Amino acid sequence: MEIFQQYKVGESCLLVDINFSSNPELNAELSELQGLVHAANWQVKEVVSLNRKYPDPKYFCGRGKLDEISEKLKEGGIDLIVFNHSITPSQERNIETLLSCKVIDRTRLILEIFSQRAKTHEGKLQVELAQLNYAATRLVRGWTHLERQKGGIGVRGGPGETQLELDRRLLRQRISQIEKRLDKVRKQRGLSRASRKKNKVPTIAFVGYTNAGKSTLFNHISGADVLAKDQLFATLDPTLRQIHIPKLGQVVLSDTVGFIRNLPHDLVEAFCATLEEAIEADLLVHVVDYADSEYISYIEQVNSVLTQINAHEKPVLIVYNKIDRLESVHPDIHYHEDKPADVYLSAKEGIGIDYLFEAIARHFNQNWLKGVLTLEPQKAKVRAQLYALGVVEKEKIADDGNYQLAITIAKSDFDAISHMNKLELMANFSQH
Ligand code: GTP
Repeated sequence: MEIFQQYKVGESCLLVDINFSSNPELNAELSELQGLVHAANWQVKEVVSLNRKYPDPKYFCGRGKLDEISEKLKEGGIDLIVFNHSITPSQERNIETLLSCKVIDRTRLILEIFSQRAKTHEGKLQVELAQLNYAATRLVRGWTHLERQKGGIGVRGGPGETQLELDRRLLRQRISQIEKRLDKVRKQRGLSRASRKKNKVPTIAFVGYTNAGKSTLFNHISGADVLAKDQLFATLDPTLRQIHIPKLGQVVLSDTVGFIRNLPHDLVEAFCATLEEAIEADLLVHVVDYADSEYISYIEQVNSVLTQINAHEKPVLIVYNKIDRLESVHPDIHYHEDKPADVYLSAKEGIGIDYLFEAIARHFNQNWLKGVLTLEPQKAKVRAQLYALGVVEKEKIADDGNYQLAITIAKSDFDAISHMNKLELMANFSQH
């Protein structure tokens, strides 16, 4: 059985954006929805906007508007209708039946993005669980609906009922299977993360609210970099790039899925699972839409999710983006003693990007060591630990029999290894 329908890249969508005057809290920004559709690698073909007081119980947006949508569908080229809200399973079915077109709601769209972005085994399981739970609410209601019908006309059994029963049972089995696997993976996680090999190239994860401009900035700096030899990353994973930063060298950038306003509660865990790159990264670049009057509250919300996923101790560099929309703000950099600098820029106009490079280089140059460590042969344990961290770039045995290891390593890791082995390794390290 196909439990959860998968969509293709490039689906053409018609967006339905409704403004509810009775309950403004229900309203989500159209630009956010467009951003989400874009993040799912789909295309926006049409937008239908309307005002209503309350949702229509049967069709969510009312018959008149659906007739208008139906006309647009006749022109062809639309694969999906996307609602900017959560709609009930029966509303979804009613609209699909009326329009003969697939309908998805905001929650389903968000799940689609998560499923495309989750990378680790645990992340994928977490997202699949959220998808199945979502499908379960759809199936269960479908079932009740049919059961009522069945009672009404006094028929027992029948092929429709059997199929639904089977679907429900398979769904339950799959959910419990995934829950068990997740349990197992979580138990192993603590151990494996500690021993996981680190990339010797510093990694930077972009985080921020959806629409803050993360992807624009990401594309700008990776595209602007003529030295980027990132074909390997580009083909394997479009959200990872290796670029060259002046006065620093190579770094790996990763673009994470954007934070979403009013994220449906059931999806919080699945969302956290898409943020593994942030947990693994050496530096977080938090992109903020500085032109949004509520930017402070968004910064706080992002910080609270970072705490939830245990990434709150990571160094965070804040980029105040979209300064082109603010009259008296110019590109700038504000240094801090104990944390990375803040940068003011416009990703779209490409102004202030040098300050970002400056802030990144300064952070790593202050907190990372690059050079050669000389070790006597009896210090093989230290050598093994450095290899386990994945920080050794080259090794040579000198004439006196000592190891000479070219390393790039976070200062904190270097200090931890020195401490663990009760050695003053700095004395044998020459920086270049
Ligand atoms: P998600 O992919 O949904 O997470 O969003 P994002 O944070 O990656 O935002 P994205 O880069 O897609 O930008 C969102 C919108 O903001 C787009 O319409 C951009 O053109 C616009 N934008 C991004 N940076 C700037 C900027 O510096 N100035 C202005 N005026 N608009 C910007």
